[in-house]
Amino acid sequence: MTTAAIRVEGIEKSYKDLHVLRGVDFEVSPGSIFALLGSNGAGKTTMVKILSTLLKADAGSAAVEGFDVATESLQVRQSISLTGQFAAVDEVLSGKENLVLVAKLRHLKNPGQIADHLLAQFSLTEAGSRKVAGYSGGMRRRLDIAMSLIGNPEVIFLDEPTTGLDPEARLEVWHIVKNLAKRGTTVLLTTQYLDEAEQLADRIAILHEGRIIANGTLAELKQLLPPAKIEYVEKQPSLEDIFLALVGSGAQAGNNPVASNNESVKDRS
Ligand SMILES: Nc1ncnc2c1ncn2[C@@H]1O[C@H](COP(=O)(O)OP(=O)(O)OP(=O)(O)O)[C@@H](O)[C@H]1O
Ligand SMILES: [Mg+2]
Repeated sequence: MTTAAIRVEGIEKSYKDLHVLRGVDFEVSPGSIFALLGSNGAGKTTMVKILSTLLKADAGSAAVEGFDVATESLQVRQSISLTGQFAAVDEVLSGKENLVLVAKLRHLKNPGQIADHLLAQFSLTEAGSRKVAGYSGGMRRRLDIAMSLIGNPEVIFLDEPTTGLDPEARLEVWHIVKNLAKRGTTVLLTTQYLDEAEQLADRIAILHEGRIIANGTLAELKQLLPPAKIEYVEKQPSLEDIFLALVGSGAQAGNNPVASNNESVKDRS
């Protein structure tokens, strides 16, 4: 038996008459990126809440880092962090103050140093002393993810990490997630974007009508369809290609996970 970082067996969950999860099974190997794909209302957030001990399942079992989410919730909480679907940053505080607060809550030494290091890593150093209320959506997301890295959790849950971000900010988040997995963190992310799963995930599971209806690598999932037909078509750039070419995305730069500067992320609020 391999030790999975996350193991889910027969999980069921209803909200009154609404039977959302109807027997969900999957495993995530340590240090890999696993994408849970599903339409609106499929139950992705419900599954993440169960795994992060915020919600109890009605049936089945789940373990994170070998700890049962129902009976060993304290140990589970010590092994994970959760970046929810809606940013959890405190608007009134500055970026740095948010980070320092989390580091203090986690009883870490040198909270200021930890905060400065993360601000630099996420290209937020200049914005660090400003109130989060004035941050763009992309900056908030980066701060949100930075907060979830404090204390080096083994497993990170990212619930729709790029929803509402512009293409450039999305690429930045993708780089961050890839780097997390490179240093050994297990990442479970939910998304509605097929290209996001395709770009990031080692394995992809599709949640539909309460069950996992497909689970595999991208190559494995592609084999579920009939072999590709060869067609000759003129390749037109996608709107995303055009957008990125015009705004000059810096996200392709080598090792720097967040290469472009903060101010280039448009403020849509
Ligand atoms: N606390 C709740 N009480 C009642 N119904 C709920 C509750 N939370 C979620 N639901 C319902 O359960 C279903 C699954 O919700 P969930 O948020 O898990 O879906 P999701 O896949 O995360 O969707 P989205 O892509 O919109 O975030 C939805 O129909 C939702 O309306
Ligand atoms: Mg959701």
